[in-house]
Amino acid sequence: MSETHMPKDKGLDHTLKLLDEGYRFVTNRSDKFESRIFETRLLGEKTICMVGEKEAELFYDNTRFSRKDATPGRIQKTLFGEGGVQGLDGAEHHHRKAMFMSLMTKAGLEEMSAIIREEWEREIKQHSNTEIQIYQAAKHILTQAALRWTGVPYQEADVPEWADQLSDMFEEAGTVGWNHWQARSSRAKAEERIAGLLERIRKKSAEVSKDSPVYHFAMHRDLDGELLDVQIAAVELLNLLRPITAIAVYIDFVLLAVYDYPEEVEKLASEEDIQHFIQEVRRFYPFFPVAPARVKEDFNWNGYTFEEGTLTLLDLYGTNHDPDIWDRPDSFQPERFQAWKESPFNFIPQGGGEFNIGHRCAGEWMTIDVLKTTLDFFVNNLSFEFTEQDLSYEMNDIPPVPKSGVIIKEAQLKK
Ligand code: HEM
Repeated sequence: MSETHMPKDKGLDHTLKLLDEGYRFVTNRSDKFESRIFETRLLGEKTICMVGEKEAELFYDNTRFSRKDATPGRIQKTLFGEGGVQGLDGAEHHHRKAMFMSLMTKAGLEEMSAIIREEWEREIKQHSNTEIQIYQAAKHILTQAALRWTGVPYQEADVPEWADQLSDMFEEAGTVGWNHWQARSSRAKAEERIAGLLERIRKKSAEVSKDSPVYHFAMHRDLDGELLDVQIAAVELLNLLRPITAIAVYIDFVLLAVYDYPEEVEKLASEEDIQHFIQEVRRFYPFFPVAPARVKEDFNWNGYTFEEGTLTLLDLYGTNHDPDIWDRPDSFQPERFQAWKESPFNFIPQGGGEFNIGHRCAGEWMTIDVLKTTLDFFVNNLSFEFTEQDLSYEMNDIPPVPKSGVIIKEAQLKK
C-alpha cells in the first residue's frame, strides 16, 4: 500500500495539554486532523494516538503490539506495580491471565454480588439517620468485599487503612508532587503487607481457605513450574484488591445517573433494563482514559507506517463516544443497548479484544455484576433522597469523581 502521511501535532511536547484536556485530548486532535490516527509527543516521546473500532481491532492484534515497557514508570510505581500481568506478552501473559480468569466463575461472581448486597444493607442500617457520601461508603464496602472475596485475613478495624491505601493507588496514579509520593508509599506498604502474608501461606503459618483467591495466587506456578516471586504475587493480588475498590468510581456515577436521569430510572422494570442502564453508565462517564502498547515490529496499516518500539495509545473514552459507533453519543440512553451489535472492539470502557489471550480487563464481568447488584439495591430495596450538592466533575481529573461525592439522606430499607 502507498504511504500516507500521519497527521502530526505541532510543538515540542504535549504532556501539559494532555493534563489540561484530559479525556478529550485524543478526540480534540482527531477531530482537528479529521484522522483517527495521529502522532504527538508525550513525556518527551513520539506517541501515536488512535480512536475508533477498527483502530481498537488493530491495537489488540498481539502480532502487532506488545505491552512490554508500555506503561510509564510513574504509573507502574503507583497504579499497576512492577512485574504484573499488564506488562506481559505471549505465552507468559496467557498463563498469568488464566490465573485471574479462573476466578471469574459463575459461583465466584455470585459470591461477590451476595457480599456486596450484604455490605450495602449493613451500611444503610448503620447510617439510616445520617447523610451517606456514596463514594466514601462505596470504597469502604468494596474494600471489605475485596478482602472477604479474596480470602485475605483482616480485622474490621483495619478496613479504613486498607481502603485508603488501595484508593491512593488509583486516585493519585496520574498526579505529581506530594500526592504521587503518597501513592507510591501506599503501594509499597500494601505490597509489603501482602508479600508477608503470601510467604506465611507458603510456609503454612497463615491459615486461609485452599479455595480462596489468595491461596491460589500464593501457590501459583509460572510456565517454568516455579512459584511466582513473592513480590510479583503481591502485585497480582493487588491487581484484584485495588480495582475492586475502584468500582466505587462507577458506583458514584451510577448514583449520579440516578439523580440526573430520573426518567430512565422510571423505566427500570427488568434485570435487562438494569443491565442496559449499567452499560450506559460505563459507556457515558469517563474513567480509564487510554490503554498503552508498543509497536512490535515495523508495519504498514492503511498506508500509515508504525515503527518498531513506538508508544501507541488507544483512546477508550473516545471510542465509547465515537459518533461512527454510537448514535448521539453524548446523550444518556440506556435503551441503545437493546439493539446493540456487540463486537470486542466497539464498547471498551475496560479495554477491548479477548479476555484470555488479550489484555481486556479481567474484572469486567465482576464490575458489571457489582454495579447491577448496587443499582437494583438502590432502586428496588431502598428509599432515599439526594441532598443539595455540587455534582460537577472535571474532564481532566482521573478518576473524575463528582465534587460532593454524591450524597444521599434518609436512606431506609424498604419493608
Ligand atoms: C473499576 C472498574 C474497572 C475499570 C474501569 C477497569 C479497566 C481496565 C482497563 C482499561 C484495563 C486495561 C485494558 C488494556 O490494557 O487493554 C484493565 C485491565 C485489568 N483489569 Fe480492570 N478495570 C476495572 C475493574 C477491575 C476489577 C474489578 C478487576 C479484578 C477483580 C480488574 C482486573 C484487571 C486486570 C488483572 C487487568 C490486566 C489484564 C491484562 O493485562 O491482561 N479490573 N482494567
